[in-house]
Parts: sequence; structure tokens; C-alpha cells
Amino acid sequence: MAKRKSSRSAADGPEPTPNSPPHSLPLGKSWQARIGAARDTLAEQFVESLSFDQRLARHDVAGSIAHATMLAKMKLISQAELEQIKGGLNKILADIEAETFHFDIRQEDIHMAIEAALIAQIGEAGKKLHTGRSRNDQVALDVRLWCLEAIDLLTGKIADLQRSLVWLARQYGSFPMPAYTHLQRAQPITIGHELLAYVEMLQRDQDRLADCRRRTAVSPLGGGAVAGSTLPLDRRYAAALLNLPTVTDNSLDSVSDRDFAAELVFCLSLIGVHLSRWAEQWILYSSTEFNFIRIADAYTTGSSMMPQKRNPDLLELTRGKAAGILGNLVALLSMLKGQPLAYNRDMQEDKRWLFSAYDTAEASVTMAAKIVAHTQFNTQVISQRLDEGFLDATVMAEYLVKKGVPFRTAHHLVGTLVSLCETKNLQALSELPLDLMQQHSPVIAADVFEVLGAAKAIHSYQSHGAGGVRQLQLQLAKWDRQLKN
Ligand code: ARG
Repeated sequence: MAKRKSSRSAADGPEPTPNSPPHSLPLGKSWQARIGAARDTLAEQFVESLSFDQRLARHDVAGSIAHATMLAKMKLISQAELEQIKGGLNKILADIEAETFHFDIRQEDIHMAIEAALIAQIGEAGKKLHTGRSRNDQVALDVRLWCLEAIDLLTGKIADLQRSLVWLARQYGSFPMPAYTHLQRAQPITIGHELLAYVEMLQRDQDRLADCRRRTAVSPLGGGAVAGSTLPLDRRYAAALLNLPTVTDNSLDSVSDRDFAAELVFCLSLIGVHLSRWAEQWILYSSTEFNFIRIADAYTTGSSMMPQKRNPDLLELTRGKAAGILGNLVALLSMLKGQPLAYNRDMQEDKRWLFSAYDTAEASVTMAAKIVAHTQFNTQVISQRLDEGFLDATVMAEYLVKKGVPFRTAHHLVGTLVSLCETKNLQALSELPLDLMQQHSPVIAADVFEVLGAAKAIHSYQSHGAGGVRQLQLQLAKWDRQLKN
């Protein structure tokens, strides 16, 4: 790599003069009086976060307006100054949103870029905005506000995915399919039951997000740099303006706490894990070996060499992208673990992992809802092979229990009957003649044929939450009620 000799290049623009007033100097930093204007382009690039924290602009402006409103209430700035600040900030935000705002990474971050633009625009009143505030509590607030919005958006997207799954569960509702343990055929269930298992997982994700939201909606504003302020700040008032029900109680913790971000990324990680498990299941189901589902063409891809291929790439990417979210969680926790109190610049990196984790989770959830809405279950293929694998063996054992046979004895007995089928090359327990079964247990009567066969078994489940048709109807009704809004 070429070594940079000079710290400045022509592309850096005019050299800032340390003595000129800040409003004529949009690139001058607020702390430049003490540090001086010596610059190194590489250092500026290394230290900046503006390239990725621009997405905090809206939250930064909201936080600043709340802060300024509180300063005016406490008579630390005048009403006229507040109006100037609000006008200036709203104009800057409009410029940012219209992409007409000129960002320069030499401003370091979104907070300084906005403050410098405000001072350039309104002069003296702009210099009062940062009264009783540090970038440390400012960024802590902005990130919390961003997280709250992200949680609300994602909650809606997850609900959409849940609704897609419930819709699909209705389409294929009571068709039977095998349930697996150890990826070996285990017991018959309804297709709807399996689909609703994912709805349950996603509901826990929703609950976790709601819980995380509660701990995030706390205002750190007023924590200042590290110790608070000697000015009379009404922290609760500023928080209320931002719809935050409470404020933090320890200034050190206020500026160094990123637990809420780590919690959110953990929630996102688990969402990623859930989606990855679903993707893996459906990758298997879409294989020729299973052939349980057909995903619509728009959500599969072809092969550059093999003309016949319909690959589940989107599901594979869902599985693959989840790895990135887990990586983001480890990065965020590792970034935090060695830090002494209170704010350290390491924390600037939190946004990379937080944003990346959210973007990946959000994209995956949105895509999953579409894939689910465009997938068919091959019910015929599934039912053709439904009686392979003795899915009804447990049902038969429980039939014996109902006739008074101890479960262990029944288990042993049905195991023996299954081996008998295998030696006689029979595919199912129902293919055994009744008298042969009776030789093993006299309690077996002709009514055994009413429960044998996987398709029948799904009508005999009785326990709450079981994989049967009756339970499915109850669960569908529950989700319809819960996901109505
Ligand atoms: N860009 C910084 C961050 O994201 C803002 C806070 C900077 N604070 C400071 N004392 N240098 O963390």
C-alpha cells in the first residue's frame, strides 16, 4: 500500500483557519480551540462515523429539539432562540432527507455535522444548543431512539410473516404429514401444525422485542459527558417530549450503557436462528428426496450449467445471512467487554453491528413472508408415502394403554409388531392380519384399524398443543385473534 506523505491533499479543500468564528467555518470542529487544526487525512478517515451514522439524523434532530425545548423551559435559552434552533434543525433535516445536505467526513459524525450546519445557518443561537449536553449522552440517546423505531418496524414485519404462515396453515390445514425427530419419521401431524410451530417461535421473538423495547425507552440525555451538569436540566421533561417514560439514574451508566443495543442484536440473532431453521427445513422439503413443497419460480434460481435446476437460493441465503447477525452480536459484546467506565470511542463501532444486524434481519423477515405466501405443499406426494416409517406406532401403543396395557409393555409389543412387519416386508402395521396381532396381545380388537394409519391418527390426538386436526382449529382461531391488528 502506498504511504501517504502529506497529511493534506488538494481534495481536502481549503485549510480551516482556527481563529475564524465557527459559523463561517462549517468544517471546524467544536473542540478545535484546544486541540488545534493539525490534520491527517488518514486519521480523519479512521476516526469518522459520518459515513455510517447518517441514519441517525432524524433521531439526532428529534433529540436536539427536545433538549432545546427543555433549555428554553429552564430559561437557559430564550424562546426566540428556541424557535431559531427548531427552524434551523428542521431545515437541515429536510436537506438531509432531500439529499441536498453536503456531508464532509471531517465533521466526524452526524452530531457535529448537524451542529456545525446549525451554527453556520443561525449563528449565535446555534452555539447554545449543546448547553448541558455532550456528544456522549447525545449519541446514547440517538441510538436508543433509533432502536425503538427499528423494534417497531420489525415487529410489524414479523407480524406479516406470522400472518403469511397462518394463511398457509389454513390452505393446507388438516392434510397430514410426518413429523420428524432426529430427521427420522416420528409421528403424523397436520401440515398446519408444523407451520404454526414457526408462528410460535416468531411470537416469542415479538415478546422479546417488546421486553427489550421497555429497557430501551429510557432517556440518558442529561448524563452529559460523564458526570451530568451543574445547570438545572429538567431531564424528565426532555424525556417526555421524546415519549420516553423514564430517565436513567446514573450519569456514568447513562453514557456507557449499550446493553439495550446488545439485547436488540441478541433478539435479532434469535430471529435469524429461527429463520435459518425454517429455511433449512424448507431446503430439505424442496429437494427431490422429500419433494414436500414447491416454492414459486420467482423465489428460486437456476443453475448456470445444469438446465434442470430450481435452486432454493433465497432460503440458503436466509440461512447464510443469519451467520452475519450472530457475528454482529459477538462483535458488539466483544467491543463492550474490555471497556472501563464511562464513554470510550470504541462505542462508535456499535452502530456498524447494530445497523448491519437489523438490516439483515429485516430483509430476511420480509423475504420470508413473501416466500411463505408463494409456496405450495405437495399434499399428494406427502400422502403417497405417509404410511412409510410406521408413523402410527405410538398411536397403537396408546391404543393398548387405553385397553389397560402398561405403556412400557405396549411399547415393547408394538416394537415387536414393527419388526414383524419388516421381516414380512409389510409397509404398515395396518397390513398385519388381526389374528396375528391378537397372538401378541389378546386385547387388540377389530377397532384397532380405526386408529391405525397416519391419516387417521391426526384425528385421535387429545392433548392440548398436539399435532391433530382439532388442536389445529383451536390454534388457527387463536392466531387469527392475536394477529388481527
Ligand atoms: N461518533 C461518536 C459515537 O458514535 C459520538 C460520540 C463521540 N464522543 C466523544 N467523546 N468523542 O460514539
